[in-house]
Amino acid sequence: MALITIEGIDGAGKSTLAAALAGALPDAVLLREPGGVALAERVRAVVKDPGLRVGARAEALLYAAARAQLVEEALAPLLAAGRTVVLDRFVDSSLAYQGAGRGLGVDAVRAINDFATGGLRADRTLLLRLDPATARARAGARGEAVDRLEAEGDGFFATIARAYDELAAADPGRWVVLDARRSPAELLADALAAVG
Ligand SMILES: Nc1ncnc2c1ncn2[C@@H]1O[C@H](COP(=O)(O)OP(=O)(O)O)[C@@H](O)[C@H]1O
Ligand SMILES: [Mg+2]
Repeated sequence: MALITIEGIDGAGKSTLAAALAGALPDAVLLREPGGVALAERVRAVVKDPGLRVGARAEALLYAAARAQLVEEALAPLLAAGRTVVLDRFVDSSLAYQGAGRGLGVDAVRAINDFATGGLRADRTLLLRLDPATARARAGARGEAVDRLEAEGDGFFATIARAYDELAAADPGRWVVLDARRSPAELLADALAAVG
């Protein structure tokens, strides 16, 4: 598998699994979104800032801009060199968060992301499926300041969880749904089986 992406709501365990998976796969590179390259890390600080007003359309475009730079500067060269990349969030996060969560529509958000990425698709996408209440409790236990998106209410995350389920059901060849209530070690085993 060349490009493996990890998706799910905040607190589902994506970053934990992404690090474990990248460590377990020979020669794999771990990247995260938004971020991974300098421009995208700066955009990350902007989109997460709880003190900023960011409209839904601007939010979608900021994520897409960060993603465009990540593809051009890191993803495309790594994949061309034959490397395996484990990516903590990708286009599907925008389809779920901005398309469904912010109500912009999945098709509209997909269109700007196709422009941003040149149509690059993941080879395998792992969905960490967890109920929003458990995910919120986990994210809270992380002990970090709550960012602009994490501050949204339960309804927002329920909508996003539903959108992820719909995306996974629509493309079962690419998505593998994992039960995120399992332990980190069990999830790593599940993930290795899913990308093997
Ligand atoms: N499988 C798991 N079971 C229990 N707790 C977990 C699991 N995976 C991660 N955690 C914990 O839950 C919190 C959120 O995990 P994290 O990987 O940061 O989630 P995400 O990147 O999806 O927001 C962290 O404190 C992490 O240690
Ligand atoms: Mg994370």
